[in-house]
Amino acid sequence: MGIPLNGLVCISGVSGSGKSTLVKHILYPALLKALGKSSNKTGDFDGLEGDLKRLAEVEMIDQNPIGRSSRSNPATYVSFDFIRELFAKQQLAKIRGLKAGFFSYNVPGGRCEVCKGDGEITISMQFMADVQLQCEECKGKRYTPETLEVEYNGKNISDVLKLSIDDAIEFFNGKGSMEQKIVERIKPLAELGLGYLTLGQSSSTLSGGEAQRIKLASFLTIGQKNPTPTLFIFDEPTTGLHFHDIDKLIIGFNELIKLGHSILVIEHNVDVIKCADWIIDIGPEGGNDGGHIVFEGTPEDLIKSKKSYTAKYLKEKL
Ligand SMILES: Nc1ncnc2c1ncn2[C@@H]1O[C@H](COP(=O)(O)OP(=O)(O)OP(=O)(O)O)[C@@H](O)[C@H]1O
Ligand SMILES: [Mg+2]
Repeated sequence: MGIPLNGLVCISGVSGSGKSTLVKHILYPALLKALGKSSNKTGDFDGLEGDLKRLAEVEMIDQNPIGRSSRSNPATYVSFDFIRELFAKQQLAKIRGLKAGFFSYNVPGGRCEVCKGDGEITISMQFMADVQLQCEECKGKRYTPETLEVEYNGKNISDVLKLSIDDAIEFFNGKGSMEQKIVERIKPLAELGLGYLTLGQSSSTLSGGEAQRIKLASFLTIGQKNPTPTLFIFDEPTTGLHFHDIDKLIIGFNELIKLGHSILVIEHNVDVIKCADWIIDIGPEGGNDGGHIVFEGTPEDLIKSKKSYTAKYLKEKL
């Protein structure tokens, strides 16, 4: 089986044919090992050949929530640092000697200490789901009154976190070099159709598809400066996505490819399969009758295949 780099490669095949096993239990760990990133156990395989120098990283991107805690949000994922630095640069902050860290809600300083910067208090209820109440002290603003006195263009840090990504781009655009850095960082989120999220929206409230696209966006921003050729692996990334969202996801894929990255997706969705540069069809059936490569090649050639179930459905689309 060959995986062409710097393009969109799609692994297709009926349910149970062995796609996830091949990619998650053999290819991904074997590549990690070959790149010297980990030494976890891999499934059995004969060998891994090719010019591995063309790859520096391998990333598996799933729909699991981003970040470890409710404290991460779209802003932290694509870098909240510049926004904090911008506030530290304001005159009032300078007079009071408030550094960028003061505008963080993760460390003591400028945050509300009653809710520890959460803006809400969680009350554990026996036998019932926890109840979240707005923090009485800061009224959900997450910061102390002193912090909130520092304003940038009429907005304090709490106001800025409540801006949607689209509004934030408009608010910061064309104002200066620091502001431009913020805009550059959050723009990919808007391009992937997430402009409606607020900068401060807690990651625990994001849908799986939203979390996945935020991860994608983070690679588009980091990558632009310094693209380390990476193989991105997705297992059924379109699960739960609307056709409209699938288009956005494919836009994200294409942007990554333009930056010199490679993409490998396990996918049933014909709208994605037809966009692939290369298809590897696994099968022919599920379970014991699976695990074989039924077809390798372009979508145009796949539809000529007699053995592949995928071919039949792809033919209707092309
Ligand atoms: N640990 C295991 N023990 C026994 N059988 C397994 C194990 N892991 C996977 N299988 C079987 O191997 C086959 C391939 O599973 P795999 O998850 O790779 O399928 P898949 O192609 O990703 O399917 P889907 O499209 O439904 O995700 C299935 O029949 C599955 O039941
Ligand atoms: Mg699977």
